[in-house]
Amino acid sequence: MANTIGNGYGFATWTNFIEESQIRDLLKYNVKYYFAGGKPGIIPTDIFADIMADLSVRYKENPQLAIDDLNYGPTGGQPWFLKTLAKRLHDVRGLPIDCENDWECVSITNGSQQALYALLDTLIDPGDVIITPSPAYLGFLVPAVKLGGRVITIPTDLDGIIPEDVEHAVEVSKKKFGKVPDIIYVVPDSDNPKGTTLPMKRRQALFDIAEADDILLVEDSAYAEIQFKKKIKAIKTLDKENERVAYLGTSSKEAAVLRVGYSVLPPNVKEQVLKDKGYLDLCTATLVQRILDEYYRNYIGEAMRVGIPKYEERCKAMAKTIDESFPAGIRTDPTGGFFIWWQSENKDFDATEFMERVAIPNELLYVPGAPFYPISGHRLTKDNKDVRESLPEHNTMRLGFSYAPPDIILDGIERLGTLLTKELG
Ligand SMILES: Cc1ncc(COP(=O)(O)O)c(C=O)c1O
Repeated sequence: MANTIGNGYGFATWTNFIEESQIRDLLKYNVKYYFAGGKPGIIPTDIFADIMADLSVRYKENPQLAIDDLNYGPTGGQPWFLKTLAKRLHDVRGLPIDCENDWECVSITNGSQQALYALLDTLIDPGDVIITPSPAYLGFLVPAVKLGGRVITIPTDLDGIIPEDVEHAVEVSKKKFGKVPDIIYVVPDSDNPKGTTLPMKRRQALFDIAEADDILLVEDSAYAEIQFKKKIKAIKTLDKENERVAYLGTSSKEAAVLRVGYSVLPPNVKEQVLKDKGYLDLCTATLVQRILDEYYRNYIGEAMRVGIPKYEERCKAMAKTIDESFPAGIRTDPTGGFFIWWQSENKDFDATEFMERVAIPNELLYVPGAPFYPISGHRLTKDNKDVRESLPEHNTMRLGFSYAPPDIILDGIERLGTLLTKELG
């Protein structure tokens, strides 16, 4: 039933069951030990200062360039920027793109969040089926539920989503809902929230499942550049004809939060996503494309060389301190990205309640695990033959190591460990 307020106008139905993003909500807290949102803590500010200083000179010398850069542009992005992105995606990520002739297969959005939303918006009718890991990035889960999608969550281990269970879910979806799923969603490199990385064998298996049943595989590669070890090939590299995998990247983690995501989508998907984007925001600001074009052409190599070891240092500091100070539980062991996932051995532990009662008053913020499970969704039964209601695992938390410097991590995680030990014994 739609909400109504005083004057008789009513709100759409979704406003009744979708709450504000819990991560956005956490941004209001100003604490000393911040391990919550996926905020990059290592932003190459000198590089961006140089780019902007250089641009200001160029704009004064060439007012027409300034007029063009301060104007509307094509919905899917400026050709010069798409060419730069195509080159990086080809040269560094190994995507099968012919950069000279094929750069138009790349398009941009206002953050990859907009691409995720537009993908769901263009593919999902109420009742359609979407497969996600359990737990999964809530920025994907919540719009999926909002649009009426049926989410089937798949168990994950320390290597990420389990392909055999994806196969079972596809079969159950056909039998129970009379539908082949439209989307399989994964974050293969240093997942949000668990920080796990899918081995190549699992990537191949997921690709094969998507091929066999004509499902769109959404490969959200938000953390693909922030890798401490050798990078594993993107699933998109298997998609030689560009017809199976929607590949999404973002500048937010590897450059700065200028709200630019980039994607390589099968042409029919791209057409619909850009149609949607056209009505959502008309286009992405040209000025930020100019800044990022400079960054991707001339600076990203150096920025990553400096930044990645710093993220790794933070990750190691967090992992070590968890091992030394937390009570019994398991944690993931990320090889990149921004997050470690911790699960208490005690099933009755409620990380949401603990955060409000104990962590925040002690200047500590993390993200409780519960929001990374759909507010309504399904999970496989033990025999893999049916689904039942999916339930959040409340004894979990996502700890972000990206933002706080190592000394704050060492101090804060030890403090959290002491408080958890006091609570859980
Ligand atoms: C897995 C994943 N996908 C997408 C996004 C959205 O990123 P942005 O909209 O900043 O590009 C995030 C942000 O944290 C993320 O973690």
